[in-house]
Formats: sequence, C-alpha cells, structure tokens
Amino acid sequence: MKRLMTLFLLAILQAGAAENAAVALPDLHMPENRLSSTLIKGYENYRIVATHFRTDKNELRYILANPVAFKALQDSKKVMPEGSIVVKIGWSVKKMPLFPSALEADKLQRIEYMVKDAKRFNAAGDHWGYARFVKTKNRYKAWDKGTKGCISCHASAKENDFLFTTKQSLTQ
Ligand code: HEC
Repeated sequence: MKRLMTLFLLAILQAGAAENAAVALPDLHMPENRLSSTLIKGYENYRIVATHFRTDKNELRYILANPVAFKALQDSKKVMPEGSIVVKIGWSVKKMPLFPSALEADKLQRIEYMVKDAKRFNAAGDHWGYARFVKTKNRYKAWDKGTKGCISCHASAKENDFLFTTKQSLTQ
C-alpha cells in the first residue's frame, strides 16, 4: 500500500513537472489564412516594445517587434512598413512565493502575431495578417475560430495602423 502511494505521488509530481516543462512553439498553421508559427522563428530575440496587463483575463502580456517594426514604432511611423511583425505573448500570473503582494509570470498561455503583408492581406484595408497559438497543458494549438474577430476589434485602433500598442518609453 505504501509503495502504491509512493508511486502515485511520483506520478503526480512527474505530471506536474511535465506541465511546467519548457515547450517551444511547434510548427503550426492557422487553418484559415495559413500563417505559420515558423514565420516568427527566433521571436524571443525581438525587442520588447511594451508590457500590458488585461485585468479581465488576469494575463500579463509582452509586446515584441522585429527590427523593421521596432524601428517604425520608435520613429512613431503612422503606417507600419511591409514586413513588420508584432508579437504578443501572454502569461497567467502567480504570487511570488517570497513576497506574495508581488505577482510574477506563471504559465505561458498564448503567442500571437500580426504581420504586414500587403500582397496577402487586406480584409480591413489594413494589410495585416493575424495569427494566434494558444497553449494549454503544455500543448500549443493554432486558433481555429478565424481571424474576423481579430480584424474587427483591431479596427478600433485604425488611427494607429490597427495596433493598440504604442512604444513604451524606458526612460520617462
Ligand atoms: C476584443 C478585442 C480584440 C480581439 C478580438 C483581438 N485583439 Fe489583439 N489586442 C487587443 C488589445 C486591447 C490589445 C492591446 C492590449 C493587449 O496587449 O492585450 C491587443 C494587442 C494585440 C497585439 C499586439 C499589437 C497591438 O495591436 O497592440 C497582437 C499581435 C494581437 N493583439 C493579435 C491579435 C490576434 C492574432 C487576434 C485574433 C486571433 C486578436 N489580436 C484579437 C484587442 C483584441
């Protein structure tokens, strides 16, 4: 009985460890517009342009930009140039064990991006293509509910070339 209990506990511990293990974004395609996760390969080396927190989803978000998008955001360009990629990564948050009134990133929950590609995308006169990869229990899945919702909600940021993000200053 004791042995069984030990095995059971070990199994739980292993499952927990597996759930927290680092899993890189696999090669996935959006079923609707065929945008792939590999388009943003190396995104972890993009520069951070802003941090956001969604109070309704309790999710911490980092916004990163590839070099061409970073430069345009830095120069406050009205229209983002062709080839711009803006990535958003969202994490659930947890209390810091040593200081519970501080929150820290817990589990990565989503990686999404927008890419400026005038030849392929123009659903809202915007030239942006949208992709979202959702992570649950250590598995990534391409968003299968279409991108109409992305396009229509981002239309409220039309004046800022459909981006909600503005570059966050690190000095003032
Ligand atoms: C109901 C509104 C809404 C919908 C639907 C929506 N977004 Fe957003 N999106 C936002 C808001 C608000 C922000 C800025 C706050 C944040 O970071 O969450 C944002 C930020 C982003 C950013 C960072 C660039 C920017 O515009 O600030 C990306 C990339 C992004 N969304 C992709 C997507 C994709 C892909 C979809 C669809 C699968 C989508 N969004 C659907 C509201 C929306």
